[in-house]
Amino acid sequence: MNKSEPGPADCKPNETRKTVTPCSIVIFGASGDLTSRKLIPALYHLHKEKQMPSEFRIIGFARREKTDDSWRKELREALDQFSRTKPVDDAVWQSFSKNIFYCIGDLTDAAAFEKLEKQLTSFGSEPLRRNLLCYLATLPSQFGLVVEHLHEAGLLHKEDENGWQRIVIEKPFGHDLASAVQLNSELTRYARESQIFRIDHYLGKETVQNILMFRFSNSIFERLWNRDLVDHVQITVSEKLGVGQRGGYYEEAGALRDMVQNHLLQVTSLIAMEPPVSLDAEPIRDEKVKLLKSIRPLKPENVARQVVRGQYFAGSVDGEPRPGYRQEPKVKPASNVETYVAIKLFIDNWRWSGIPFYLRTGKNLPASASDVRIQFRPTPHVLFAAVCGEGLDPNALTLRLQPNEGISLRFNGKVPGTTFGVRPVRMHFSYDSEFGAYTPEAYERLLLEAMAGDATLFIRRDEVETAWKIVDSIKEAWNDKPLSNREFYAAGTWGPVAADDLLAESGHKWHEPLLVQ
Ligand code: BG6
Repeated sequence: MNKSEPGPADCKPNETRKTVTPCSIVIFGASGDLTSRKLIPALYHLHKEKQMPSEFRIIGFARREKTDDSWRKELREALDQFSRTKPVDDAVWQSFSKNIFYCIGDLTDAAAFEKLEKQLTSFGSEPLRRNLLCYLATLPSQFGLVVEHLHEAGLLHKEDENGWQRIVIEKPFGHDLASAVQLNSELTRYARESQIFRIDHYLGKETVQNILMFRFSNSIFERLWNRDLVDHVQITVSEKLGVGQRGGYYEEAGALRDMVQNHLLQVTSLIAMEPPVSLDAEPIRDEKVKLLKSIRPLKPENVARQVVRGQYFAGSVDGEPRPGYRQEPKVKPASNVETYVAIKLFIDNWRWSGIPFYLRTGKNLPASASDVRIQFRPTPHVLFAAVCGEGLDPNALTLRLQPNEGISLRFNGKVPGTTFGVRPVRMHFSYDSEFGAYTPEAYERLLLEAMAGDATLFIRRDEVETAWKIVDSIKEAWNDKPLSNREFYAAGTWGPVAADDLLAESGHKWHEPLLVQ
């Protein structure tokens, strides 16, 4: 038997705290891609699984002329395309879509927010009018304006005894520390920090959530999780895709701001943080911030030694030709923007002192895969290690975040036969074979948590700002210097040579993510 039976032993610690009260979800910038690709499919599935509140409304707020019906029709077509379960269930869609409405309005127009207020009041229910989840799928430069107008229209209150209002926003949370501070102060003029839910979709991934579960619900692994036994840690988020049509955005962001500031540092903090005092949002987020603050600051001379950037030139991925980054649409022909970053970090705390954490991410790499590899110290140089030398693999634990989600422990085993042949083998846990192929979209979990008011999976202001400090020090040291030859890589390879050198100088090497289960 492969699958574990659910039974009395299944403990569900947060089952009791997830209550969702009736509310309205207002999506600003509703005609964008995010709404049709992610938000509506996620809300539809929550409805299908009976996780939505007993009463809810969804209002799309945008400039384009549409009616409730034409918007519903448009969303239905998108759902047919993007739903994770197919075909879309007609009966479920019917009961879901009658809660969807459209409000034509310009974000700069205060009168449009008054109209929105009237529309919410017209639902004739106090909770649908007062309990509001405002999803800002707009440009970050418009966040301040939206909260101001919401406040002026009487829709957003810092204190409200009879209801709740929450603001959900997506990255980028600014483009550096100064702009993030500015953005955060604009948002907190009319809302408390606890009303702001900053999304990092990596925190919605099952496997990322499983990091805390794995570490703190098992006694054997946590005992190994420190500088005494760990040699180094590798965190890889690799992507097969190039920047494609996102050249304009990417020229401003680069891999450092697009991926490291958020996803990679989030995963690092979950892997390395201390146990929180409880499973509530604030203790968990306190520990994550503490961890980010313990990352040794990167002075400019250290950036040169500890950070590698890379940019892809033309090559091929899976036999398919790919243009170089500089040839992508909306990219400057002599751009020095990085499409790859590798960083060697040190965490100056008691647990991790002296242990390198290697982080890497890049576009147009040979595989789309994210994993965390905890590599343990080599065996003492006696017995098998003395005979095999470098040939004896150190133990490693790999947390596979995507795809083929799972956890593997690598150790050495005897090759059957009359000799003492040693070979690395794996003990493997696979999500699919254990729990079946049920993979809810990150947005389903995140929207549900936001409606329930649980901020555990969202990024707090100090987390964002601390992460920007780390990233800013790297960006400043690069100072737009041209890339050297060792920093270019062909599309379809594992990044620039300089990234291999980064590890080689400490006697380490990158491990390719495991591509098979
Ligand atoms: C986004 C980045 O935040 O994450 C994209 O802006 C990137 O550039 C994406 O492709 C990766 O997410 P996932 O879930 O596909 O690993």
